[in-house]
Amino acid sequence: MDALGYYNGTWGPLDDMTVPMNDRGVYFGDGVYDAAVCVNRVIFTLDEHIDRFFTSAELLEIKPSCSKEALTALLQDLVQKVDNAPLLAYWQWTRGASRRDHTFPPGTANLLIMLKPIAVPDIYRKIKLITQDDTRFLHCNIKTLNLIPNVLAAQRARERGGKEAVFHRGEIVTEGSHSNVHILKGGVFITHPADNLILRGIARSHLLGACKKLKVPVEERPFTLTELFNADEILISSTSTMGLSAEAIDGKPAGGKAPELLKKLQDEVFGEFCAATGWQPGVRS
Ligand code: PDD
Repeated sequence: MDALGYYNGTWGPLDDMTVPMNDRGVYFGDGVYDAAVCVNRVIFTLDEHIDRFFTSAELLEIKPSCSKEALTALLQDLVQKVDNAPLLAYWQWTRGASRRDHTFPPGTANLLIMLKPIAVPDIYRKIKLITQDDTRFLHCNIKTLNLIPNVLAAQRARERGGKEAVFHRGEIVTEGSHSNVHILKGGVFITHPADNLILRGIARSHLLGACKKLKVPVEERPFTLTELFNADEILISSTSTMGLSAEAIDGKPAGGKAPELLKKLQDEVFGEFCAATGWQPGVRS
C-alpha cells in the first residue's frame, strides 16, 4: 500500500476511505491539523509537531480524543503499514460529528490520519515567489483546517510559474501560503516574530537553531516588502521544504548575494534531517 487513510480507529488504502457527512470538518472546517515528513519510517521532529497539534486544539477548545503518547504510538504504528518510501504524515482533529449547529457538540474530537508518498526536496534548488495580499484572519498561529486564502494564493503562485506565494499585510511581510519566510541581510537572519500573524513553523525553529549554532545573529521582527526585494537571500521554510532559497519575486531577480551563509544554514538543517532519518540524497530508501 503506497498511501494510507485512518479515521477513528478504521484504516485502509487512502483512496478507499470516507468520512461521515456529520463530521464538523466537512461543513465548518472545524478542526486543526499538523503534518511531518517520514523517511525510513522515522517521523522527523514528531514530538514538536504533536506538541503544536495539542496547542492548536487547546486554542480552539477541541477536546483531544487521546494522549500525546497514544497519538505518537499510533502514527509510528501506521507508518509501518505502508511502503517504505518518503511520506507526508498528516493528521487532524475535527470537533466531533453532529447535525449542523454552530455551537459545540458533546464528545471528543474525530481523528483522521493520512500517509502519502512525497519527494524529499532538493534543499539547494532555487525557487520563484510571488507576493499576495494577506487577507487571512488574525489567528494564523493556530493550524486550523481553514486555509482558503492559502489555497488561493498557492494556486496564483502556480499559475505564475512560482513555487510559493509570500503574504504581506500592507508593507509587512508575514509568511508564505504554506511556509514561513525569512531574509538574510548583512549577515543577519531576519524573520517575522512568532505572533498571531504567522504559524510558528517547526522548520523555522530549526533554522533559528542553526543560526544559534553557527553564531548567525537573528532579528525576530517584522520586515517590509522593500527589505524582501533587497535581501541578500530569501528563504522559505516548511516541514517538507526545510529551507529553500528564492531567485525571483514577482518576476524580478532576488537574493543570490550571500550564497556561502545560505549554504551553511542549509547544510545545518538538512544535515540534521539526514542524521535523524538516515536519508541519503541521491539514494532511494
Ligand atoms: N504547512 N506557515 C503556514 C501557513 C504553513 O501552512 C506552514 C506549513 C508553515 C511552516 O510550518 P512547518 O515548518 O511547521 O511545516 C508556515 C504545512 C506543511 C501544510 O499545510 O502542509
